[in-house]
Amino acid sequence: MADIVNKQPTSSFENEKSAQSYNEDCEDQLKLGRFMIRKLNIPKGARVLDIGCGPGTLTVEMADDVGPTGSVSGIDLGKERMKIALQTYKNPEVDSFRSNVSFALGDAHNLSLFPDDHFDYVVANTVIHFLDREKAFKAFFRVLKPGGAFAASTMSGDHYCAFLEIKREVQSRGYYRGHIEPTMDLFDFPTQSDLKKHFSGAGFRHFSFELVPSAVIYIRSFPESIQATAWANFEAEYEKLRTDRGIVVESVWLTAYATKA
Ligand SMILES: C[S@@+](CC[C@H](N)C(=O)[O-])C[C@H]1O[C@@H](n2cnc3c(N)ncnc32)[C@H](O)[C@@H]1O
Repeated sequence: MADIVNKQPTSSFENEKSAQSYNEDCEDQLKLGRFMIRKLNIPKGARVLDIGCGPGTLTVEMADDVGPTGSVSGIDLGKERMKIALQTYKNPEVDSFRSNVSFALGDAHNLSLFPDDHFDYVVANTVIHFLDREKAFKAFFRVLKPGGAFAASTMSGDHYCAFLEIKREVQSRGYYRGHIEPTMDLFDFPTQSDLKKHFSGAGFRHFSFELVPSAVIYIRSFPESIQATAWANFEAEYEKLRTDRGIVVESVWLTAYATKA
């Protein structure tokens, strides 16, 4: 996996347009997040931290779960996504305003905004493949209360991922040189064994995993001038995967859960 790790700072692939179309582009990821949150069964009154909260869609769904006696804090590195979260949920003049949610620009590796032993749950939906997990998991552990739970979702590094292979091949073509880095949005998807190592290294106990089948393609973060060609290139590659059952795109989401004993 090492050769496909995205070395760029994460916020570099975000732009105003991709932030605005996030919910539409990332429907699959939101479904995955809802699956993971249902598993957690977060009770009323809980205090939750949403790492890499994006425009705040799941953050607010969790805020509805915890009710007025609980709270959810969302942090994200992306300025444009944070702007949308603040405008949508923290403007008292709009109906979607939520009093039990807070948002802040912040880095998952450095949670100095938050005290030790503070949250009942730390949730990271489709974020940990961007992170230095060794460092970030220690920060998550620190801010969780004893007995608190951490849940994360990502693509499974244990499974072949057609999406990643196609992206890698298309983006390495000469046409893209000078527009994007060949490694753009090619992530370091962890295996279960990687995650066990990072969980135990940070002090977590009682790990469990669940796999969820999926498919995803995401190119709105490409410069607009090359998006049409990119769609055509990706479509042609996906077409090669057509079978009697339609186009089969192999990839598997992984959800992972651990507790602070
Ligand atoms: C695929 S999006 C998921 C957004 C949200 N969790 C959801 O499920 O809708 C990944 C998010 O992680 C954020 N992110 C990546 N690296 C981060 C970091 N080091 N600290 C905070 N947020 C980060 C990105 O800006 C992006 O909004």
